[in-house]
Amino acid sequence: MRATAKAQPNIALIKYWGKRDTRRNLPAVGSISITLADLYTTMSVAFDKSLGADVLVVNGADDSSMLPRVSRCLDNVVGADRAHARIESESNFPIAAGLASSASAFAALVVAADAAVGRENTSAQLASLAGQASGSAARSLYGGFVELKNAGGDIIVSELRGRDDWPLRVVVAVTATGPKPVGSTEAMEASRNSSPFYDRWIEQQDADLDEARVAISGKDFARLASVAEHNCLKMHSVMWGSRPPMIYWNSTTLACMQTIRELQSAGVAVFFTIDAGPQVKAICKPEDEAAVQQALAATSGVEQVLVSGLGQGAVQINDD
Ligand code: PMV
Repeated sequence: MRATAKAQPNIALIKYWGKRDTRRNLPAVGSISITLADLYTTMSVAFDKSLGADVLVVNGADDSSMLPRVSRCLDNVVGADRAHARIESESNFPIAAGLASSASAFAALVVAADAAVGRENTSAQLASLAGQASGSAARSLYGGFVELKNAGGDIIVSELRGRDDWPLRVVVAVTATGPKPVGSTEAMEASRNSSPFYDRWIEQQDADLDEARVAISGKDFARLASVAEHNCLKMHSVMWGSRPPMIYWNSTTLACMQTIRELQSAGVAVFFTIDAGPQVKAICKPEDEAAVQQALAATSGVEQVLVSGLGQGAVQINDD
């Protein structure tokens, strides 16, 4: 009745922003992401009939804030009549700061919970269960380049291209640590309810997905860079246009974007993307990683630079 799983965050190149169905947490748009290798969350789940309630320990400390979502996710995987569980989560990167820690956490949680009870759901079923907890988590069940499609009443997640097929690198500039001021669910609803740009965002998403798919299948870096930056800035424009406005950036976020523009002007193959937080993720070719890392580390205000290759999806690992 105990198992451990490991999962990595993923970074969306074509973003999920907006919900079609808030009750079932279904996204209003498809999305495409890359799964990371070197940032990860390990999650142990131990069901124990002697426990009076679920217990969640995050990085060694009791954490009740995420517990309702975690408990609901366990109910969905195992059934509401389950025993209570002790859940222990460890991440090797800042959590709740726009680095997709909920994606790696819920992807690892569904795999660990499923293994603990010996159910053996398929990856597709587990992706759907993870997606109910956090939309982007569904993508962390798979490795490399991953697409999430809206299909009828459910989501379908698949690998577009393997991680070794096009081994891009990701350099993350951490511009602030600490939890973000507004969670993505609340911000997405603010966009849907009040941003004048929301409908256009939804309308144009299929064109961006098509373009990214073509770029990935042809390993066309310049094309992927162009559509990914466009999609990211469009998502943030939707947020900036909402009432109240959702502005996740800080001045260092902009300084990092400027650094990336300068690298591009100097011929470096790199592009940026930014999620619901102030961190800047730079995607580049392996030969340019050192230059990108150095330039971002030297950008005023950057607290930390993390680097990663592309990784595999969530897996069960041996309990220690
Ligand atoms: O999965 P959530 O609810 O944390 O939302 C993720 C939203 C973005 O990170 C901004 C975009 C994405 O596709 O990951």
